[in-house]
Amino acid sequence: MSFPAQRARRLRRTEELRGLVRETNISAAKLIYPMFVCAGSKIRREVSSMPGVYTQSADQLVEECREIESLGIPGVILFGVPESKDARGSSSVSEDGVVQRAIEAIRKAKLNLLVITDVCLCEYTDHGHCGVIENGEVANDATIGILAHQAVSHARAGANIVAPSDMMDGRVGAIRDALDEHKFENIAILAYSAKYCSGFYGPFREAAQSTPQFGDRRDYQMDPGNAREALKEVELDLEEGADMVMVKPALPYLDIVRRVRDTFNVPVAAYNVSGEYAMVKAAVQKGWLEEKRVVMEILTSIQRAGAEIILTYHAKDAARWLKS
Ligand code: PBG
Repeated sequence: MSFPAQRARRLRRTEELRGLVRETNISAAKLIYPMFVCAGSKIRREVSSMPGVYTQSADQLVEECREIESLGIPGVILFGVPESKDARGSSSVSEDGVVQRAIEAIRKAKLNLLVITDVCLCEYTDHGHCGVIENGEVANDATIGILAHQAVSHARAGANIVAPSDMMDGRVGAIRDALDEHKFENIAILAYSAKYCSGFYGPFREAAQSTPQFGDRRDYQMDPGNAREALKEVELDLEEGADMVMVKPALPYLDIVRRVRDTFNVPVAAYNVSGEYAMVKAAVQKGWLEEKRVVMEILTSIQRAGAEIILTYHAKDAARWLKS
């Protein structure tokens, strides 16, 4: 036998061949587009640290949703930017709330889109924390009742999936109980189970105006050094009734995505967060990176690590590139 018998390059010779043996294929059908909705009408403000992403009123959001549907993206996740904030995040449970109104507008437009809602308090509290404050700290048990109430109000407005992102203990169980009690047993829970205390949420906090006014989120979000603890968080959320679990952010935590995928038999989502998006956009603006190429490589890496669902601000661009 002449050397070398094995030539790995044989299968890399044409695009047809490379496509045939490719292990990971990105599809728009697995992407979710995050959106920020505010009160009012005809409002559409670009988030300065997230070019191409807007904070917009429900009427404008519906127009963008038409485009998202036509691109073959199956769903959106909504974040509320309310007009008024208070200590208990009251506007988050109002029937008249920004997210509730936006869901109704999407439903009225009869779009075939899954509507996922972020369930948390930080966008609605004047202090910017993900829960209510008692004795100077974020009070776990006092918070989860409000979150359950918020989830039910999103379901009532027409949400398909609720996604708690607060990292309070026991919130998934409380939300499941409340949904069932109100006959929303078919509304699914996508739990932000392994949500790390990350510097990559910076641009999101600009968009949601949700930067904590004191302290930080280290006593509820996970420590970046921990991996086994992520498995514990996922296990607890599944015991409490989560249907799907999420790892967030994506790129600095691909090892966690892989471990969760290998350990549990449920759909795994990864959130390619605002800071990850901003880094790419900034480098592209400077001419330092080629956008399409790096975005597709990033999405491929997240899927290859084991995520079947990817929440990403790149979803519209990626879907467009996949079409052409
Ligand atoms: C709310 C929430 C945050 C994100 C999603 N839900 C911000 C935070 O925890 O500070 C971040 C998403 C992103 O950065 O794109 N708790």
